[in-house]
Amino acid sequence: MSNKIYIFDTTLRDGEQVPGCQLNTIEKIEIARQLEKLGVDIIEAGFPVSSPGDFNSVVEISKAVSNPTICALTRAVKKDIEVAADALQYAKKGRIHTGIGTSPYHIFNKLNSNPDEIIKRAVEAVKFAKKFVEDVEFYAEDAGRSDNEYLARVVEEVIKAGATVVNIPDTTGYCLPYEYGEKIAWLVNKVPNIDKAIISTHCHNDLGMATANSVSGIINGARQVEVTMNGIGERAGNTSLEEVVMTLRSHKDLNFDTDIDTTQIMKTSSLVSTLMRMPIQPNKAIVGRNAFSHSSGIHQDGVLKNRENYEIINPADVGVKESSIVLTARSGRAALKHRLTVLGYDPEPAKMEEIYTKFLDLADKKKDITDEDLEIIAGRAKTAESRPLELVSLQVMCGKELIPTATVQVSFNGDIFTETASGNGPIDAAFSAVKTLVKRKVRLEEFLVQAITRGSDDLGKVHVRVEHKGQTYYGFAAHTDIVTASVESFLDAIGKIQ
Ligand code: KIV
Ligand code: ZN
Repeated sequence: MSNKIYIFDTTLRDGEQVPGCQLNTIEKIEIARQLEKLGVDIIEAGFPVSSPGDFNSVVEISKAVSNPTICALTRAVKKDIEVAADALQYAKKGRIHTGIGTSPYHIFNKLNSNPDEIIKRAVEAVKFAKKFVEDVEFYAEDAGRSDNEYLARVVEEVIKAGATVVNIPDTTGYCLPYEYGEKIAWLVNKVPNIDKAIISTHCHNDLGMATANSVSGIINGARQVEVTMNGIGERAGNTSLEEVVMTLRSHKDLNFDTDIDTTQIMKTSSLVSTLMRMPIQPNKAIVGRNAFSHSSGIHQDGVLKNRENYEIINPADVGVKESSIVLTARSGRAALKHRLTVLGYDPEPAKMEEIYTKFLDLADKKKDITDEDLEIIAGRAKTAESRPLELVSLQVMCGKELIPTATVQVSFNGDIFTETASGNGPIDAAFSAVKTLVKRKVRLEEFLVQAITRGSDDLGKVHVRVEHKGQTYYGFAAHTDIVTASVESFLDAIGKIQ
């Protein structure tokens, strides 16, 4: 048996059934072209009888791509098959995917039929499809809950009728991985003509086991997997293409592979997500924004020593530039030092400690520390020893109907001085207290506040310009508390006065 696993992508058919995520033909063509670049073997382009839009998409996708086989879905109904064949007229390689339900639920409740009648209809559909195309795939809908003895009979008959691929869908995502694997192994062992067709998996993710079931199917004899990009699809979705492909790539021991160019995975994933307006969950395997980011100190240290300590996939292999080290309150010195080096800082050990303390202090106040934050922390650490005036504590009281009052404690050459003052706002009050404390006649000439980046937990930057005896002095500080930043920047400027 061959070790190549055929990738049958149904993003544009089963994936597109997600409510609110419908694509127009132009968007479908763009995705189909990207799927071709990704290297999928088969693109299921639509269900032509379902709507003129679906019909048109199958026609246009057939014209737009050359390498993958273009597949069109039908029920086991003559009209569906004729319309599908018509839609596939421009396909370089066309496949009709026809089928019928084989579980007791489908046979008796949905189709109001009986097992023999279902086999008859299945065989007729395959024979009819064969009149139009050589490549006919048969799906036994709800095979996951179908009786294995009966399923083997269906599969044998449709292969006799000419089916080239037999699809065993776990339509409701009910199977356990060992159970689904056993179902495939059962067909491999019991169906006498099974070597005349390829067995395909088609697993849904209702219990979160679609990927595990598909891989189990492969291990037990399936050679085609039906998947969607980002795992999109009805309800909890379909098997995700990237998960199966990277499982096979990572587990070389299984000795299976696909023709997928994995470096195109991220690009394809983003395109599908954007065009379908369907965000990807951050922790989604392979393509989630956190899939290659490390935030705990132990993991960051491990990854910096050797990427493989905590990563089983090289991010570059799936088209992600590099793993990211997210600096948070849980990050250690190694990660901080690494980031500072990338930013061009090389602090001495003592300075590093000072920066690390400030970093932890800031990280406790805001979630993620950005490069801009680090520049500020590191830049400030560089000049700390040249600051004669340091803010020790600051307390302000302000609000509607209150007189703004500030109590400021400042250290000057090791001695602590305290002063309280009021003003027309908390900053004015704090500045008055500082002026009284330093016993100098200083005039504030400019005061500029800037938020550095995004949310309300971000650092605020304050620049001040003060005048003393005809000379100008500049001060700067950054802090998550804008009043503290203001007082520190004021002290920074005053500290420069000789
Ligand atoms: O889930 C399913 O059974 C299907 C078939 C139509 C192939 O999507
Ligand atoms: Zn499906």
